[in-house]
Amino acid sequence: MKLFVRILFATIVTIFWSDRLYADDIIAVETENTGLYLINDNGILKQLYYGDKVQDKNEFSLMKNMSLEVYPFYGTGNFNENAAQIIHSDGNITSSVKYVSHYVESFGDYDKTSILLKDQYYSLEVGITFTAYKSSDVITMSVTVVNNESGPVQLGRLMSGSLNLRGDRFYLCRLYGTQGYEANFIEEEILQGTKVIESNRGVRNTHFDNPSFMISMDNKATENSGRVYGGLLCWTGNFRMSYQKDCLGNCFVASGSSDFAGNYIVAQGMSYTTPLFAMTYSGQGKGPASRNIHEWARTCVIREPDRVRPIVLNSWEGVGMNFTERQIEQMIKKSADLGVEVFVLDDGWFGNEYPRNDESQGLGDWQCNKKKLPGGLSNLISVAKENGIGFGIWVEPEMVNVNSMLAQEHPSWIVSTDKRDPLLCLSRMKSQQLLDLTNNEVKDFVFSVVDSILTLNPGISYVKWDANRYAPDHGISSGDTRSQNNFWVDYVNGLYDVLDRLQNKYPSVFFQACASGGGRMDYGLLKYCHEAWISDNTDALSRVYMQWGLSHFFPAYVMAAHVSATPNHTTNREIPLKMRLDVAMSARFGIELDPLHLSESEDDCIKKGISEYKKIREVVQFGDLYRLASPYDGCSQIMYVDKAKERAVVFAYVTEPLPYEKYNVVRFEGLDPESKYSLVEINKDIFCSREISASLGKVYSGDFLMKNGIRLNLNRQYQSAVIELKKIN
Ligand code: GLA
Repeated sequence: MKLFVRILFATIVTIFWSDRLYADDIIAVETENTGLYLINDNGILKQLYYGDKVQDKNEFSLMKNMSLEVYPFYGTGNFNENAAQIIHSDGNITSSVKYVSHYVESFGDYDKTSILLKDQYYSLEVGITFTAYKSSDVITMSVTVVNNESGPVQLGRLMSGSLNLRGDRFYLCRLYGTQGYEANFIEEEILQGTKVIESNRGVRNTHFDNPSFMISMDNKATENSGRVYGGLLCWTGNFRMSYQKDCLGNCFVASGSSDFAGNYIVAQGMSYTTPLFAMTYSGQGKGPASRNIHEWARTCVIREPDRVRPIVLNSWEGVGMNFTERQIEQMIKKSADLGVEVFVLDDGWFGNEYPRNDESQGLGDWQCNKKKLPGGLSNLISVAKENGIGFGIWVEPEMVNVNSMLAQEHPSWIVSTDKRDPLLCLSRMKSQQLLDLTNNEVKDFVFSVVDSILTLNPGISYVKWDANRYAPDHGISSGDTRSQNNFWVDYVNGLYDVLDRLQNKYPSVFFQACASGGGRMDYGLLKYCHEAWISDNTDALSRVYMQWGLSHFFPAYVMAAHVSATPNHTTNREIPLKMRLDVAMSARFGIELDPLHLSESEDDCIKKGISEYKKIREVVQFGDLYRLASPYDGCSQIMYVDKAKERAVVFAYVTEPLPYEKYNVVRFEGLDPESKYSLVEINKDIFCSREISASLGKVYSGDFLMKNGIRLNLNRQYQSAVIELKKIN
């Protein structure tokens, strides 16, 4: 009896204490407006809540039993998606990783919370780091595994981030597409089961799916209402994003580099850290979620975030690889005359034994083609300089053509699979292969390609870094098991190493990331590149949709948007120059045509467009974005407002034919309700005398503009307008 009473007492005490949580047990990762709250529940790290910051975190004290493990490892009895699976040095495939300790460090605008977990049996440590960026309301997460076991461990899976969401319904917004049709925005309900979005193409990852999402809870969110979680992975390689919904109201979200075709092997005594996963929460819809991400990217990721992006003319769509020195000189002069700030010479300028006259040869031989450009790059740079503009150059240094001196001299540098024929398939991939950036010698070579070009030609101010091949050949023929397995991750880290070295050596040279169009629109690369090429499809209507989709995750100034010739070379569609200009002006404006073939009136329009863009570009490039109306509803409207709320620009494009008498209402956002603003149409259509709104040229209060708005007389497909708002003092 005595024993029974003692056991009963002990049990009551245990239950009492284990259900009493104190503030110290709760790990609070807080930004200015949001909070992610975790708890150490007997060694299990659980997520209590993520959303608007709570006033008193002690009120979570009765919730731990209702909470789920935030980062489950395989081996703990979890039959659902796991965030990690580790194959230990002795072959054991289960883990029992428990909380040990955590600490918080503060660094001005951000706090870093480092949580240490350990396997209960094996000498394996896991560090989870959360960094809370206070003013942008973004929290990043990454995971480190330290292997102190007696041999190598394999990472069957090691996600960068995971989240437990609770709700009745979950709506997933994401981007999908293909080359020339990138960044379509889709919204779909996540139904019971597991939905996986992934890329297994190796070295470029965003043509088909982008490693980013927004999830709205319970109902589809609008721009201004609804609870929305945004997430993205800063990674240029294979990725996996899974969304697992059960019937109990849980949705487990996990994001990380993919575990496809190979387990990453961590040698004894070594560690491995995942790429960053960034997340944000907004209780007021998708608009604030995007602005949070933009703000964070602008302050913490993107290269030279405060630098005004230049106006570029790129030669690709104008002349391709078929040009003469004289022609390029004339194009440079004409570009300067139009107001362009940097002329970029695209593909076709290199290779002598194997001249780069078409895509089948020359890659790897980065010497200027003496026949096409007898004066060398230095002559063109001088012409650009004399005309007061910068000069940029296209490179694709990760790749090699089978027909090149490089391929003959260094066959072992090429990624290929032992005992398999090279997979030379799909357009350019028929003749070009990938260099092995997991090999230090190759990394040095790739670095030296760009280093030599920039050292020998100090006037080059812009580099377009292209990559026109995936990695279908799995692994490295000469490599051991470890290097074969680690290839996918080590390649991308090798690329980052090279770009980092170049960034340190040439801090003021501007870099664009490109991969057959928009194959590298990701925050892994934007740390090293100022911007990315969105797509080889430069059709203005297609671009309205692409720029709309991308704007959910990327600020306007990383999207290179160029005015090209009509009919468009991809879609064959004819779109008025006015709309082509207006669409490019809403992002990082540029031109992609042969300026020597412009008519007088086109010349005039482009000159005017460029000079207007120069006046508004700081608002577009650094302002806050408001998506006012979706292109999927017939008339797209987006708006940028500068931080001081003194200037704003609205872009409106009719994407579909609308009823003739329909007026499109623009209901502005982000203005100061107390201030007065003047409204002026800029970049006016010189071919059309029509008034697009009776409100233009007048002054209204921010309050009125945001509540009532103005009406625009735009209803024909491809009509567009740009309206500038200025605060009146
Ligand atoms: C890729 C790029 C284009 C152009 C060509 C040159 O397709 O996306 O912009 O640079 O390569 O070969």
